[in-house]
Amino acid sequence: MSVLLLHKSNESRRRHLERAAAYAREKRERLLVLSNNPTWEHELADVVVSVNTSDIPATVGAVRDLAASESEPIRAVAAFREHSVPAAAAVAAELGLPFVSEQAAQTVRDKYAMREALDAENIPQPGYGLARTIEEAMEQAARIGFPMVLKPLIDNDSMYVRRVDDRDELVEHFAGIQRGAWGGSASDPLYAWAVEKYEDAILLEEYLPGTEISVESMLCDGKTNVVAVHDKPLPMEGPYFADVCFTTPSRFPEDVLRRVHELTAAAHRAIGIDTGATHTAFRIQEDGTPKIVETAARLGGGPVYQSILLSTGVDMVSAVLDVASGRAPDLSAQPVPTPTGFYLFFAERAGKVSALTGVRDAERSPHVHELALFCEVGSAVDVPPRAWQPHGHVVFTADSGDELRRRFYGLASSIQIELE
Ligand SMILES: Nc1ncnc2c1ncn2[C@@H]1O[C@H](COP(=O)(O)OP(=O)(O)O)[C@@H](O)[C@H]1O
Ligand SMILES: [Mg+2]
Repeated sequence: MSVLLLHKSNESRRRHLERAAAYAREKRERLLVLSNNPTWEHELADVVVSVNTSDIPATVGAVRDLAASESEPIRAVAAFREHSVPAAAAVAAELGLPFVSEQAAQTVRDKYAMREALDAENIPQPGYGLARTIEEAMEQAARIGFPMVLKPLIDNDSMYVRRVDDRDELVEHFAGIQRGAWGGSASDPLYAWAVEKYEDAILLEEYLPGTEISVESMLCDGKTNVVAVHDKPLPMEGPYFADVCFTTPSRFPEDVLRRVHELTAAAHRAIGIDTGATHTAFRIQEDGTPKIVETAARLGGGPVYQSILLSTGVDMVSAVLDVASGRAPDLSAQPVPTPTGFYLFFAERAGKVSALTGVRDAERSPHVHELALFCEVGSAVDVPPRAWQPHGHVVFTADSGDELRRRFYGLASSIQIELE
């Protein structure tokens, strides 16, 4: 038997692939990886096929060829990156394996279709509308009200998601966001389909105030299990929304978290997600009402995997592969969660890296469990809104929630990317 991962090379997913390789060894299965531009993936998998995973028919064709050349049947298909979800759904449909349907994979990546699906089930969310021109945007603004958020219809990583506070800001930023949104998603597997459906429209949403949380769930047999909730304790009020700090367990009261759990399950049903991991963002309104920002049919990015493992003991990569293989996942959490957080850091401005300060000290700390750097001395780095991948991340634990926050501020002040 073998496990097939659809992938797009990204350093922040190395741990996921390492764990998938160990999983395959434990189960005496082969690990097959299909990826755009594979490099280090070759060290981990039994077979690596280089294919443009943005091209869904090409990916399905490559899997067909691979399946024909393998002596063992493919038992599972999985994806740890947003980009690869639609192709994984198509491959799963072709091979008759468990995964979200192609329809659900499309709805969940099409932010307007997702809003419509959530509306049909009365799930609390921001007001929204489409606009192709500034005139249409003004009409939508009259209905939605300011502040508003402008965003691409497909794509992720908070690219070109921008708050605008009034008509002047809308006029100033509409065309730039529209251009960036479509230019930025040209390599997306759903790009051609989305252009056909929306031409050059972007999505306009009512701005939701409140603390953002990120909910990691695992669905098996159609049932939603919330495995971890991370708070994003720093204010995220825009105009851009780069993720910086996550902490878990959540500090919201039990009744709010119960509602979050219900709404996450309801969102899955509304969109048609019935299996695998999901990553859902909410903003908690002042009165405690959660409103959904969005959901994705995959595990949260980069350090979320390690953070869940440290705080709950649940290994989400194993769980994803178990569910994909038709096995029951082990989602039993340790009785008391370990306060865990992660910090996604950026340079302060664009430039060439001259030194990385505080990194060695952080690495030596017994509270730091993972430190990843995605730049080195001499690298050219850019910052939001032009670049969205953080330049590194650090995952850390503490004995209490308060200590965790102090530790975050300590790391945030000591880790510095110095520029020439
Ligand atoms: N309607 C909204 N109100 C307030 N903040 C929002 C809204 N939509 C998006 N954001 C902020 O922008 C971030 C990225 O938007 P999102 O829709 O999740 O796009 P992406 O797919 O790029 O992650 C969110 O995590 C949130 O912080
Ligand atoms: Mg998001």
